[in-house]
Amino acid sequence: VAGGVGAFLNYAASSRLHPAARRAIREALEAWPLSFEEEARVLREARVLFARLIGADPGEVALVPNVTAAISAVAYGLPLSPRRRVLTNSLEFPTNRFAWMTMERLGYRVEEVEMEGPLFDESRLLDSLSGDEALVALSHVFYQSGYRVDLDSIYPAVRASGSLLFLDAYQSVGVVRVSASQADFIATGSGKWLMSIPGSGFLYVRRGVLEGMRPPFMGWMSTEDPGDVEARVYRPAPDARRLEGGFPPILGYVGVNAVLREMLRTGIGEIERRVLSLTGWLIDELSRIRGVRVVTPSDPRRRAGIVSFAGDFDPRKMGEYLASRGIVVSVRGGMVRASVHYVTSEEEVEALLSAVREFLSGV
Ligand SMILES: Cc1ncc(COP(=O)(O)O)c(C=O)c1O
Repeated sequence: VAGGVGAFLNYAASSRLHPAARRAIREALEAWPLSFEEEARVLREARVLFARLIGADPGEVALVPNVTAAISAVAYGLPLSPRRRVLTNSLEFPTNRFAWMTMERLGYRVEEVEMEGPLFDESRLLDSLSGDEALVALSHVFYQSGYRVDLDSIYPAVRASGSLLFLDAYQSVGVVRVSASQADFIATGSGKWLMSIPGSGFLYVRRGVLEGMRPPFMGWMSTEDPGDVEARVYRPAPDARRLEGGFPPILGYVGVNAVLREMLRTGIGEIERRVLSLTGWLIDELSRIRGVRVVTPSDPRRRAGIVSFAGDFDPRKMGEYLASRGIVVSVRGGMVRASVHYVTSEEEVEALLSAVREFLSGV
């Protein structure tokens, strides 16, 4: 593995740069500055490729830097609802709890469903719906446990309750299938499973919802015709561009586009199959090691690229030991979190397993 790293198993934190992204960014830098037409092409292509990945229309895709920005755009873009509650849960990454709190300034209550234990419980969320929710914010795959939410049970129920569903898909887009039919809003960033530079993310908004949304930032790029730089009257773009701000980080999208093209060529079904096979194998092998308790579900429908485990050991010490062996993982929520992508080799998974066995045998 390049750079003397024994195994890179940390896509859920900060990814390695995909070779296709590195190549494309290098070429763009050599050619810098890009022409206005080339920039417009890159941004258009970003919307088209992301839309293709999730089965949406390019007009339903806004370019946003990260999940925080996606949440802010939704928070300030939603028409005011007579409903007063925004519902999250105790297992969310801070972004998907804190960033909603700006809505408290608009008179909403942001409340959390308390989960018991490390795994998300669909019925607990559904039982908490009161009919007063304007929006439910939820991860698709949880950053600590790697649990993949059963959206087939969640989305129809949330819709039937009259609420919108916002999906934080930062831990699922690019690794497992994510479909525009699974939520009203889907957000992701570029620094994890899309294997690019952070700061060039995406927000999908379902057409029917988009039509009622107000431009949250009223940036010049959110107008009907950003080419009209003499405009004196603000006219919002008819599509999801109305949720955007100023000029996006174009080099980042050059990289993301190159990766999206690769992923679409491979096929997200094939990527998912490979990742689930590797994580399934990792879970089986870890479960056989005495003193290890795998937290991530073994049901392939309930996991993606993350495998988290705890047991009769200090996870920090295990993490430090793995780092000393050149094995890059994270420690989250009292668990060791390994994350595996479609480019991960069997040797990298073997290296992790051997090092875990060594650590526990006190070598
Ligand atoms: C589920 C999830 N959402 C969001 C983020 C980060 O938020 P942002 O894109 O605003 O930096 C992370 C980062 O680890 C995450 O795991």
